[in-house]
Amino acid sequence: MPDASSLIREETLRQERREASYPEPFPTGWYVVARSKALDKVAKKGRPMAAELLDQRVVVFRDAQGRANVLDGYCPHLGADLSGGKVCEGKLECPFHGWRFEGDGQLAAIPYLKEGRKLPTIAAGAHPVLEQDGLVFLWHGTDAPDYGIPAMPAGMKHRGDHDAGVVKMHLQEFAENSVDFAHFAPLHGQMRLPWLGWPIPGLTIAHEADWVPDDEHPWIARFHDAAVLRFRGKTLEKTKAKATITFHGPGSVVHFRFQIPDVGDIVMIQTHTPIAPLAQRVRFRWFADPKIPRLLVSYVVGNWVSQWREDIDIWENKIFRERPQLVRDDGPVHKLRKWYRQFRR
Ligand code: FES
Ligand SMILES: [Fe+2]
Repeated sequence: MPDASSLIREETLRQERREASYPEPFPTGWYVVARSKALDKVAKKGRPMAAELLDQRVVVFRDAQGRANVLDGYCPHLGADLSGGKVCEGKLECPFHGWRFEGDGQLAAIPYLKEGRKLPTIAAGAHPVLEQDGLVFLWHGTDAPDYGIPAMPAGMKHRGDHDAGVVKMHLQEFAENSVDFAHFAPLHGQMRLPWLGWPIPGLTIAHEADWVPDDEHPWIARFHDAAVLRFRGKTLEKTKAKATITFHGPGSVVHFRFQIPDVGDIVMIQTHTPIAPLAQRVRFRWFADPKIPRLLVSYVVGNWVSQWREDIDIWENKIFRERPQLVRDDGPVHKLRKWYRQFRR
């Protein structure tokens, strides 16, 4: 029997090899740092909050105008963790020597500076921020954002949230999944109870999909899926449902629009935030036309989340094949990869 430490060593080596097979782990784009509600909670107590993402620590706080700001997590002075500080008059105060920073990172005050001394020009690194639909995003990769993210259409009502924890996968896998049409039947062909994921005997799902990059907005790509249920091989026409899945960037922010005929739309935001190259924090947040019954919304969203979970075991154990051996009937994997390369830094 190998001992525990050699098993751990083997597992570490396996993960390192997986990681080495992949391209750029943190492509250019918008990434969720926090939910607005969580930030409100600490802001009410006059405190900032920490977040770990993209192999770094950041600190998030609300300034006097209530705007969300994101700075590098460690103080430029002597490296204290700024999230242990407090927010005073909209400025972030370091817990170590009390230096204060503005929302844009500029140093605002040093409490022990002798009279007549000039405040030096020092700044904590600041990140461009977008707060929208209850999520706080930071821009990563270039100095200024190349594009924004469309807000939820007016009239849509917030219906729910789900934090799915951390999945040990690379961000690009989520994007590649949508063009890998050949895995839909073997992996997602079985109908399951929404949220619970239990298979429903005799009930299968057939998917028809296509993937189209947006000509005018190169950072956008849409995946269309038409799904229909089959009972013991017989198509149940009435169950036909359409979904449009829009990628705003490299898979860090994805909007799902489920169109339910004669009822209305449900829009779900799924976000991936890499904490490390092979570790994605996954969040869901959804909205719906107010007239759609609660149970139906939960069914549709839960159905998607259950299908998404079916991929996890594959994602957490696979490697990236730079030159995959594809056949004619595979989906447009190369097309997706070409589109995806625009996000490399
Ligand atoms: S380490 Fe932050 S003020 Fe000194
Ligand atoms: Fe999948």
